[in-house]
Amino acid sequence: MACHRGVGARECNEVRATDGQLNIAPPRVLPMPRTVLIVDDERDTNDILASLVRAREFEPIQLFSGAQVVQEVQEKAPDIILLDLMLPDVGGFVICDQLKRSRATNLIPIIMVTALQDVSHRAAGVRVGANGYLTKPFTPDKLYQTMDEALSWRKEHEEKGTEGEINFDVRSELTYLQQANDMLSDLFLRTPLTERQIKDLKQVIMEMGGNAIEWGHGKNAELVLRITYRIDPNAVTLVIQDQGPGFDPKKLPHAASDEDPIGHLDLRNELGLREGGFGIMLAKGLVDDFRYNEKGNQVTLVKRFDVKP
Ligand SMILES: Nc1ncnc2c1ncn2[C@@H]1O[C@H](COP(=O)(O)OP(=O)(O)OP(=O)(O)O)[C@@H](O)[C@H]1O
Ligand SMILES: [Mg+2]
Repeated sequence: MACHRGVGARECNEVRATDGQLNIAPPRVLPMPRTVLIVDDERDTNDILASLVRAREFEPIQLFSGAQVVQEVQEKAPDIILLDLMLPDVGGFVICDQLKRSRATNLIPIIMVTALQDVSHRAAGVRVGANGYLTKPFTPDKLYQTMDEALSWRKEHEEKGTEGEINFDVRSELTYLQQANDMLSDLFLRTPLTERQIKDLKQVIMEMGGNAIEWGHGKNAELVLRITYRIDPNAVTLVIQDQGPGFDPKKLPHAASDEDPIGHLDLRNELGLREGGFGIMLAKGLVDDFRYNEKGNQVTLVKRFDVKP
């Protein structure tokens, strides 16, 4: 007699016959062991991490170099990845980038484990989609806290409806990058947009969010930037709103136009502005619809896609 095997279960009860009748005992569902993939070439650190995650009832999978990581992740689909940045062969950033670009592995939270406290590494990690940071030396509490955050990130993504409107508030450039990454993971999961299209959209979000923080807010970290995105059956709509005074997008002599992409550069020089003036032109070309509100402190971006078969 076949055994009822629930999804995610690894054991169940047999069918028992009593009094000539067949009774099916309720399946004894044991949850699949949760796994943490630990990638660290320092054996001591790797072993310590393994025993710490074991104490939390996770099963560790230990790797000591970067080369097999992607394949291991594809095969074992771990619940969390603890990834050392300084591996002898492939760098942690490269691995993280690769995993985050694949739809199959995109939602597995990656915690960067690093001895580098440098903020620029943190920003670089965020750029390639890392979900958390753990700086060596770390305490068990800090590890568990980072793991909990990573798991709730994943849960949140899994629970989101296919269609919905998501708002988030951003204060600093770093939180902006982090949240934009989260949003892109979501878009990747829930729309048929290709990797290339998501990359383009990321560029658009970076340009427009960057403008809001730089020009709208004058880099004042007290001001909150609001980003909303909505996924519809055949399009994703993004709204980026700042609290600045706005501007007139029709009057931008210090920015590039399609007719004359470099004519503004001399004027920028005269005005003492940094090099640039390409963000809006670039962003416009990468989406299907691009419009500012009347005030100029809110931009709406629409990217369409074919409906899933
Ligand atoms: N949210 C905003 N609030 C106020 N002014 C803005 C805003 N966004 C853009 N601007 C104005 O529009 C100009 C053109 O923006 P654009 O993104 O094209 O170029 P840039 O930001 O100056 O340079 P680049 O994007 O190439 O680094 C900016 O220089 C700024 O004057
Ligand atoms: Mg810009």
